[in-house]
Amino acid sequence: MSETLFTGISQLATPRPGPRRGAEMGQLDITEQAALLVRDGLVAWVGPAAQAPDAANEVNLGGRAVVPGLVDPHTHAVWAGHRLADWEAKLQGATYEDILARGGGIRSTMRATAAATLEALEQLTRPRLQRLTASGATTVEVKSGYGLDFAAELRMLEVVRRLQGVYELQPTLLIHVPPEENRARYVQGVCEELIPEVAHQGLATSVDVFTEKEAFNVQETRAIFEAARANGLHIKLHADQFHAIGGTELACEMGALSVDHLEASGEAQIRALAESDTVATVLPGVTLHLGLPAAPARALVDAGAIVAVGTDLNPGSSPLFSTQLALALSVRLNKLTPAEALSACTVNAAHALGLSDRGSLSPGQRADFCVLAGPDWREVAYALGGQAVQEVHCAHSAQAAFGPSSSPPGT
Ligand code: NIG
Ligand code: FE
Repeated sequence: MSETLFTGISQLATPRPGPRRGAEMGQLDITEQAALLVRDGLVAWVGPAAQAPDAANEVNLGGRAVVPGLVDPHTHAVWAGHRLADWEAKLQGATYEDILARGGGIRSTMRATAAATLEALEQLTRPRLQRLTASGATTVEVKSGYGLDFAAELRMLEVVRRLQGVYELQPTLLIHVPPEENRARYVQGVCEELIPEVAHQGLATSVDVFTEKEAFNVQETRAIFEAARANGLHIKLHADQFHAIGGTELACEMGALSVDHLEASGEAQIRALAESDTVATVLPGVTLHLGLPAAPARALVDAGAIVAVGTDLNPGSSPLFSTQLALALSVRLNKLTPAEALSACTVNAAHALGLSDRGSLSPGQRADFCVLAGPDWREVAYALGGQAVQEVHCAHSAQAAFGPSSSPPGT
């Protein structure tokens, strides 16, 4: 048995175990002059330091604030190549269609990713995960979706599997870009070959689909969701990024874990999410980088939805390498309060991955936590850049207790 009592915590701020819905998102438990007892990787006790039980080991955190480890529920962290020329062209006024026509955009990332070896992809991905982790993320979801063919999709998920020993990762199979020809055959292959193979090899816990005018339609999405469920996988969705074409309603009807993006969601989609247990995940990095309208997180919370926040780390729409910064941006761009943003990036983000064992520093939960640079927990929502998160403790993996300036073992 290993047991450590963390003392010297000026403030410990945490949501209760999730999911937290609507007004509950703003209700944190805040303990001043707190202590936290960790036993075998789980929270054993939390409360005022004056009442703390004895423990075999004690670590004094020196008067700093503690919040739960952040959960990043949406990343595309495995890719090769870059989109810098696309970005410059876009700054000069080129449209998404112009960029695609000149061979750029998402298809250029797919070609570069297809051409990279497993080892090369692993080397490219590792420092990205290191940065997310150093920013406070103790669990990170990683999607496939840049595979030109099924073998390349499996290779992306294999990269995630290889890095799972170093970081706490949740892999998702993303059905992202339809082929230019033989679309029906492709969807059939996804349902009858790719999803069963991914499930058989245990390479993903969820299946995600990009449902959009330029990507998969609602009927195709339904078929893919049915195959995912038949193979015992959770379902998630990219929807309402540019157009609300019915993906959100389908996902809520079919019990998806989350619907992500939502920049183009209106009243009907907000209502569908608020009446469901499906998490509404907003991605402020996309709003900042693409200059899209912000997803209506304020209206979603006010309507009673379960809202989460993620980075959407990817080379095209959100080169955002900090989960803490996603949290801070959701306050500015999506109008969440600091307390709501902390709930969104912890318990609710965990729930968006089907995880109920983390995100709250309460007895029985995983003892994943961030030690902030100063004494006030609100720094985690306030700071833009800098090192608001000074130490990251992840109880069950090799990344325990390291700060932004150091590296986890194996890097
Ligand atoms: O989440 N919406 C589609 N997919 C990604 C972008 C991927 C890319 O542009 O490389 C997203 O924004
Ligand atoms: Fe995405």
